Amino acid sequence: MRTVIYWFSGTGNSFHVASALQGGLDDVELISVVQALDGDMEPSQRIGLVFPVYAWGPPAIVARFIEKLPSGTPDYLFAVASYGGHPGSAIALTRRMLKRRGLVLNAGFSVRMVENYPPMGGAPEEKKQLKINDAAETEITTIIARIREGATGDFSKKSLFFSLFGRLVYPMFRWALSRQSRSKFYADEKCSSCGICVRVCPAKNIELPDGKKPTWSNRCEQCFACFHWCPEYAVQYGKKTVDMIRYHHPGTSLKDLMLRQE
Ligand SMILES: Cc1cc2nc3c(=O)[nH]c(=O)nc-3n(C[C@H](O)[C@H](O)[C@H](O)COP(=O)(O)O)c2cc1C
Repeated sequence: MRTVIYWFSGTGNSFHVASALQGGLDDVELISVVQALDGDMEPSQRIGLVFPVYAWGPPAIVARFIEKLPSGTPDYLFAVASYGGHPGSAIALTRRMLKRRGLVLNAGFSVRMVENYPPMGGAPEEKKQLKINDAAETEITTIIARIREGATGDFSKKSLFFSLFGRLVYPMFRWALSRQSRSKFYADEKCSSCGICVRVCPAKNIELPDGKKPTWSNRCEQCFACFHWCPEYAVQYGKKTVDMIRYHHPGTSLKDLMLRQE
């Protein structure tokens, strides 16, 4: 059965999951949500969505992508949410968004990976990252087996508290995102104007005026790719991030994200 997996990823966790699914299932095409939003989408027998959890729900760009999905019902539709602490209502909200489009989410999964959101503390030190990423491999293997057998249901991590909390906070997150004015991102004196932040940004939100430092506009998706992939650790978010750990999934390269998001 041909499968198209649409993915969105800032620091490569979700891209790694999508690549692992491609390796574990047959006849899989990976398409970035960013590219899919720009072009026409073909119906497919099996469709997968892989994305990070933002504020206990799916990223806004994934919600916009769902609005654009072709309406022909696939034989099997699954979603995998990568998260750092708790996925909250990410799968339930995705199911609801798909239902509004007349599509049924056959199976929903979550996989714990390294946290990448600086305002919540950001990534832990490397030893802990390795432990988390190792455990994720086991979870991904189980997800592949379940997809292969066509399992149906919500297999994501559950918590009544985080689910209710997510349903409250998620709309506020989306509201704040739609009303961005001044960006909290800036480049400090370490910036070498290499332009990686510009190229890795899925929202085309960063500009690099000739010979100057990058500037951020108001279309940010909050993926923090610019922050984590900056080779000089020069991209900051507010005043408290200078000493924070930068992270990207060790199995994902900058090229993986840049080539597919450009
Ligand atoms: C804006 C933002 C919000 C986040 N919110 C949550 C959250 O509500 N729950 C959670 O467990 N992780 C949260 N995270 C962490 C990411 O979901 C997690 O690190 C994910 O694996 C990152 O995937 P990526 O590398 O594919 O971007 C958040 C990250 C960002 C950037």
